[in-house]
Amino acid sequence: MQTTSDLNPRSLPVAELHLHIEGTLEPELIFALAERNGIELPYRDLDELRERYEFTDLQSFLDLYYANMAVLRTEEDFADMTRAYLARAATAGVRHAEIMMDPQAHLSRGVSLETCVNGVASVLAQSEEEFGISTMLIAAFLRDLSEESALEVLEALLAMGAPIGAIGLDSAEVGNPPSKFVRLYDRAREAGLRLTAHAGEEGPASYVVDSLDLLGVERIDHGIRCLDDADLVERLVEDRIPLTVCPLSNVRLRAVDTLADHPLPAMLAAGLNVSVNSDDPAYFGGYVDDNFAQLEAVLGLSDFDKARLAANSIHSSFASDERKAELLAELNA
Ligand code: ADE
Ligand code: ZN
Repeated sequence: MQTTSDLNPRSLPVAELHLHIEGTLEPELIFALAERNGIELPYRDLDELRERYEFTDLQSFLDLYYANMAVLRTEEDFADMTRAYLARAATAGVRHAEIMMDPQAHLSRGVSLETCVNGVASVLAQSEEEFGISTMLIAAFLRDLSEESALEVLEALLAMGAPIGAIGLDSAEVGNPPSKFVRLYDRAREAGLRLTAHAGEEGPASYVVDSLDLLGVERIDHGIRCLDDADLVERLVEDRIPLTVCPLSNVRLRAVDTLADHPLPAMLAAGLNVSVNSDDPAYFGGYVDDNFAQLEAVLGLSDFDKARLAANSIHSSFASDERKAELLAELNA
């Protein structure tokens, strides 16, 4: 039996650095928004929808994730989804959140940039006051689409003054290497944006190397496959490159067999700068606190490790030095 932890994972102050806002759309909200917008869903009820949450790989999840976005039509829909995430994240101990959104997935459905960006951003603007969570919005680009499409959307976001602080790269990884997006990252850097990208989730360790060398990213989302390359691990440790690891996601998308087999303990032991994140919590069985609780229950994650993971998340965030100091003081207390 695990002994009760002195550190309650629910109250550990953490930064959530890897979170797709569309992946926080809970089944109940999907049904509520469908009803509000007069959209007929291809599922009779919640149970029938939940039966689809059995994934075989990343693509099988993405198919459902994109399909369920159909219920997001108005600014109010995006705002309600964002508010629901922040309320839940606050109970999980999240004190700073860097939130990815997939604008191309909404544009392709005929939803404007203004609708999706303003809906999410209007709630983020109130988040510190309302939920005690400071935030940054990250525009994530779909790597299975072209670089031209990504560049066009980035230019539109910049032209409208969208309150984004960083860009990311997500969606189907294998076959869509970082080398496709060199000009996108050059443009984002020139615009003063921070840079992150998914790499080494299903794709090979070389995608992590290329994200660093070709895209110049400061952070890697997932990165678990780095363990296949000892030289890369050495470099990541030496340069303190943050890896935003998502344990429950990796199990549900079968990047690892079971939580007991998760490489997080090996990554910590190697001295890698890892944090724990929820990715798409409505789809993968839990929020940040659930990830911590299951890591503790299954892998015997110690209080020391949890505190280190929390400190890593704060240090690895794109928050101001002042905000980081505030959160580290809270953690140390
Ligand atoms: N989009 C939403 N979740 C994702 C994930 N885990 N990997 C790649 N793209 C995503
Ligand atoms: Zn992700």
